[in-house]
Amino acid sequence: MDKNSQLEAINNYVKNIFDADATGHDYLHMRRVARLSKEIAVKEKADLFITEAASLLHDVGDFKLFANPEQALQDVNVFLQSIHIEKEDIERIETATKDVSFRKGKIPKTLEGKIVQDADRLDAIGAIGIARTFAYGGAKGQLIYQDAETENTSIKHFYNKLLLIKDKLNTDAAKQIAEKRHAFIETFLSQFFEEW
Ligand code: NI
Repeated sequence: MDKNSQLEAINNYVKNIFDADATGHDYLHMRRVARLSKEIAVKEKADLFITEAASLLHDVGDFKLFANPEQALQDVNVFLQSIHIEKEDIERIETATKDVSFRKGKIPKTLEGKIVQDADRLDAIGAIGIARTFAYGGAKGQLIYQDAETENTSIKHFYNKLLLIKDKLNTDAAKQIAEKRHAFIETFLSQFFEEW
């Protein structure tokens, strides 16, 4: 199986898992993260195959999306072997996806991991980030906003995560893409409070 067919197989695998997600972690999130990752990987001269494969798989095993994250990670490993990806590459893909999560607060060790983390965070800001924040809040039964003190509202999430992202990016290419998206969030918030 050549690398393009392997990526297509991974793509289908991920589509099956995330197609029905309504928390902002649907299959098209994986596609956007893959596209952003590729764009950054070209600029940062990273391994394109590892970056793209890892970006498609980055949310598999996330504790908030999977009842049994360990099992999900094991299943992916078996699947990657079944499409004849070399053991060494499977390890590189797993390393690149392991520390992506915002909540864990870790910086991935490899360039490919840093890029996937950046791409995932870029998809959490800008217009898409705003849409995903309210989709997630709605799916979890949270209020849009109450007041500055109340946690677990969608607007509070902007202050706990979205506004912090631009200073937590690893690569210069991602920092550049983040500028416009960050500015858009600030504009949105000021308009929101004007109306509120
Ligand atoms: Ni993600």
